[in-house]
Amino acid sequence: MDLYLLHQPYGDTAGAWKALEEAVRAGKIKSVGISNHTVKFMKKLIPQMEIMPVVNQMECNPFFQQKELREYLKQYGIRMEAWYPLGHANKKLLTEKRLVQIGEKYGKSVAQVILRWHLQEGIIALPKATSLEHIRDNFNIFDFALDDEDMSIIRSMDTGKGTHNPDNMANAVTLSMYKIH
Ligand SMILES: NC(=O)c1ccc[n+]([C@@H]2O[C@H](COP(=O)([O-])OP(=O)(O)OC[C@H]3O[C@@H](n4cnc5c(N)ncnc54)[C@H](OP(=O)(O)O)[C@@H]3O)[C@@H](O)[C@H]2O)c1
Repeated sequence: MDLYLLHQPYGDTAGAWKALEEAVRAGKIKSVGISNHTVKFMKKLIPQMEIMPVVNQMECNPFFQQKELREYLKQYGIRMEAWYPLGHANKKLLTEKRLVQIGEKYGKSVAQVILRWHLQEGIIALPKATSLEHIRDNFNIFDFALDDEDMSIIRSMDTGKGTHNPDNMANAVTLSMYKIH
């Protein structure tokens, strides 16, 4: 397997990470990563890690830019990977006036502007699309570059809030009720 992620920061994560490290050493997995691990959880887990995660997959888009976490990840050379990079098609995001204007300037859609912003920020975006048109659009972001002013405008859109706060331990209870069949 190329990449295996530890999905949530709950339960015996140190034990789960040890098992993943064994799988890497056994040649079953090439790289390991984490997901939904905020700075709070990473501070506890990192001292127990022998193999560093290559990515932390977190909710991230122009409305929720994860600035503190991204700074923290830099120290360890861990790449930020964005889930909900298009805000799960949040209408407010995909019709945001300034993003529409930036898109018009480059002849690109708002989704393409957002994915290009991720790319230029060094974030690996993980968009999902079922429509062929969207899939094509999402690949078509390598023939333009946002200028510094546009990057600053998008950086100013951060609200610091997303849809999922892993630090809220009520999530641990909810997620522990899922059963694997
Ligand atoms: N690690 C985690 O805890 C976690 C949590 C949530 C999600 N994820 C993963 O993150 C990935 C992305 O999540 P997501 O799909 O919910 O969010 P997303 O990629 O932000 O949004 C997907 C939505 O955006 C639409 N879309 C895609 N490309 C578009 C474009 N060019 N223009 C306009 N709309 C576009 C899609 O529509 P169409 O389908 O109609 O094309 C779909 O409704 C998934 O692989 C998911 O499994 C991980």
